[in-house]
Amino acid sequence: MTKRGYFIYTFGCQMNERDSESLAGFLQQMGYDKALAPEDASVILINTCCVRESAEKKILGRLGELNKYKKEDSNVIIGIGGCMVQQPGMSEKIRNSYRHVDIIFGTHNLHQLPLLIEQCHQSKNRVVDVWDSEGEVVEDLPERTVEGIKAHVTIMYGCNNYCSYCIVPYVRGRERSRQPKDIVAEVENLVRQGVKEVTLLGQNVNSYGKDMNPPLSFGALLQDVNGVEGLERIRFTTSHPKDFDPTLIEAMARAPKVCEQIHLPVQAGSNAVLEAMNRGYKREDYIELIAKIRQALPNVALTTDLIIGFPGEREEDFNDTLDLLEKVRFDNAFTFLYSRRSGTPAAEMENQVSDEVKRERFQRLLQLQNKISLEHNQKLLGQVVEVLVEGPSKTNPDKLTGRSEGNKIVVFDGQPDLVGQLVSVKIEEARTWTLLGQIL
Ligand code: SAH
Ligand code: SF4
Ligand code: F3S
Repeated sequence: MTKRGYFIYTFGCQMNERDSESLAGFLQQMGYDKALAPEDASVILINTCCVRESAEKKILGRLGELNKYKKEDSNVIIGIGGCMVQQPGMSEKIRNSYRHVDIIFGTHNLHQLPLLIEQCHQSKNRVVDVWDSEGEVVEDLPERTVEGIKAHVTIMYGCNNYCSYCIVPYVRGRERSRQPKDIVAEVENLVRQGVKEVTLLGQNVNSYGKDMNPPLSFGALLQDVNGVEGLERIRFTTSHPKDFDPTLIEAMARAPKVCEQIHLPVQAGSNAVLEAMNRGYKREDYIELIAKIRQALPNVALTTDLIIGFPGEREEDFNDTLDLLEKVRFDNAFTFLYSRRSGTPAAEMENQVSDEVKRERFQRLLQLQNKISLEHNQKLLGQVVEVLVEGPSKTNPDKLTGRSEGNKIVVFDGQPDLVGQLVSVKIEEARTWTLLGQIL
C-alpha cells in the first residue's frame, strides 16, 4: 500500500509557520494526511528560514538527513521551499549537492505546491520553480482547519525597509497588504472553529494598507477585526518604531479586544549603530515613543528584538544598548548575535565584530534583561491578571497554563474544561519567564 502521509519541518518566524499551515492545507486537499513522523510520510517538506546563518546550517543538515527516507523508499517526495531557497544561487546549490531533493519552490509560489507534486509524479523528474519576484496576493489558499484557541493571520507580505543587516526584503519581496474583508473572513472562520485569540502578522504591520488605493490604515483594520463576534483577543506583530503612528495607540484603546502588548524591535541603543542599520530613528525618538505609549497605556507590556555585534559596534555603542534597556525596561527582549547575510550591505562593512566579543556582550545583556524581566514579573505579585486558558502546562501537566494580556505565561490549578475561557488569576509567585497563581 502506498503511504499517503505528509510531514513538514518549519524553521523561522510566525509567518513561516502560517505558510506551513497553507502547505499542509494543500496537501490535505490532495488527499494526504498529517503523519506523526517523517518515516510515515510520502511527502516530506522543509519550509526554510535564512535570517541568520545558524538557521541555514541546521536546515542543510536536516536536508542531508532526509536522504535516508529516499533510500528506504524511492517514491517518497522530498521538497524544500521558503526564504532560504529564494537567495541567489541557492536552488542550484541544493540541486547539485542534494540529489535526493525532488521539489524546490520559493516564497512567492507556495500555492503551486499541488502542481509541482503532480509534475513530479508524472515526470518522475525533479521539479524546480522559484519565482524571482512577488506576484499578486493569492487569496485562494486552502480553507484553514485549526486546533486550539490561538491562531496567526498574515495581513501583509514582504518588507520595504531594507535594514542593512536583513535578508527578509530580498527573499520575501515588497510589501503587499491583504484586503480587510479577506482578513476578517479568515478570522470569522477561525472563530467558528473555536479560536479565541488571533495574532495579526506582518514584517511591519504599521505600514499595513499603505500600498493600497486608496490607502488603508492598520488602526482601521484593528477596528474591523475587533468587530468579529466571539473573538476575545487580538495581538499583532511586528511593529516598526519609525512607522509607529501615535494614532495607533488611540486605535488600540478604541478596540477593547486588542491586548495591551507591543513588540517593538529597537535592535540597538546607539545612534551610530542605528544609522548604520538604516533603521530610520534615533534612540531619543524611540525613548520618546515608549513614553507616549506608556502614558496612554500604563499597563502595556513591551518586548523588543536586539542585535549584538553589528559591524562597527564599539564598547561604547554596546553600553548605549545596555543604557537603553535600563531606561525603557522591556518586559522581555529577544537577542540575536549579528549574522552576516550575503547580499546585504552590512555583510560588506568593515569592522566585523568577533564571535568572542559578541558572545561576551550577549552574556552581559542577558544578565541585565533577566533581572529587569524578573522585576517586572515581581510587580505583579498579589495582582489579579486575566488569563486565556490554553491547556495543561508542559512542564507541570497537573496544572493549567495560559497567557496574560501582556502575553506572559501563567501557570495555575484548574480543570481542563476551562480551556478557551478567560479566567482571573491571582499571582502568587513570580519567576523570570513564568508567573504562578490561583484562579479566583
Ligand atoms: N520585521 C521584523 C522582524 C524581522 S526578523 C522587524 O523589523 O522587527 C526578526 C529579527 O531577527 C529582527 O528583529 C532582528 O533582530 C533579527 N535579525 C534580522 N537579521 C539579522 C541578522 N543578519 N543577524 C542577526 N539577527 C538578525
Ligand atoms: Fe528585516 Fe528590517 Fe524588514 Fe524587519 S523591517 S524584516 S528587520 S528589513
Ligand atoms: Fe526567516 Fe523568512 Fe521569517 S528569513 S524570519 S522565515 S521571513
